[in-house]
Amino acid sequence: MRILIGNQKGGVGKSTLSILLCNYMSIIEKRNVVAIDLDFQQSFFHQWETENQIMDGDPPYKVIKCELSDVGRLLPEIKDDPEYDYLIDSPGNLDNPDILKMLANVDVIIVPFAYEKKTFESTLVYVQVAKHINPNIPLLFLPNRIKKAAKAELKEKVDTELRQFGEISPYTIYDRVDMDRISTRGMSKIQKENFEDFFKFFLLNYIITI
Ligand SMILES: Nc1ncnc2c1ncn2[C@@H]1O[C@H](COP(=O)(O)OP(=O)(O)OP(=O)(O)O)[C@@H](O)[C@H]1O
Ligand SMILES: [Mg+2]
Repeated sequence: MRILIGNQKGGVGKSTLSILLCNYMSIIEKRNVVAIDLDFQQSFFHQWETENQIMDGDPPYKVIKCELSDVGRLLPEIKDDPEYDYLIDSPGNLDNPDILKMLANVDVIIVPFAYEKKTFESTLVYVQVAKHINPNIPLLFLPNRIKKAAKAELKEKVDTELRQFGEISPYTIYDRVDMDRISTRGMSKIQKENFEDFFKFFLLNYIITI
């Protein structure tokens, strides 16, 4: 399965979610996972490499860094691979033909977003393009960085619009200070509490389908 974590909006939590989902699927669910880092900064790959140097034992999964110009070759090659779940951390911006190739060659997209006007507008454009290019692609929206004082009115409007394109996760991710201290080797108690319900939901409904 080729799982894309995508949104053209920067800073919505794509890389954070990619790392923690890889940790969860490999360490807790014991699945064979390969991460593909397509981001220009390759922060996931570099963190994984650094942690492999300073930590004992084999890493629970491999991270491959890949140039965007290579997705047209790589993603079709791993289609229907029964052995691995491929998790793709992607950059934003849609004005690149290789991003469109990427959208056309994945099996499911998790779209992290926040209830905030600019983020919503940007997310909407992203999913319109994704659905145009890959009409049957399942989209799962993940509300991230939720603060207790979220405006109910904006939430309702955003949810209604986004539901035309996919499902909004019934489990949301809260804004927690602990999120900037993530590791490619595991999760803190707070990180687990924040993400685990969503991960279980995603796996049960989108990955382990009978
Ligand atoms: N739930 C959360 N609570 C608190 N901070 C968060 C949460 N999710 C993400 N962050 C923080 O937000 C910042 C941006 O997150 P991240 O790098 O994962 O976003 P991104 O979508 O990958 O950004 P880019 O588009 O630049 O690649 C990071 O500092 C991260 O620690
Ligand atoms: Mg990122």
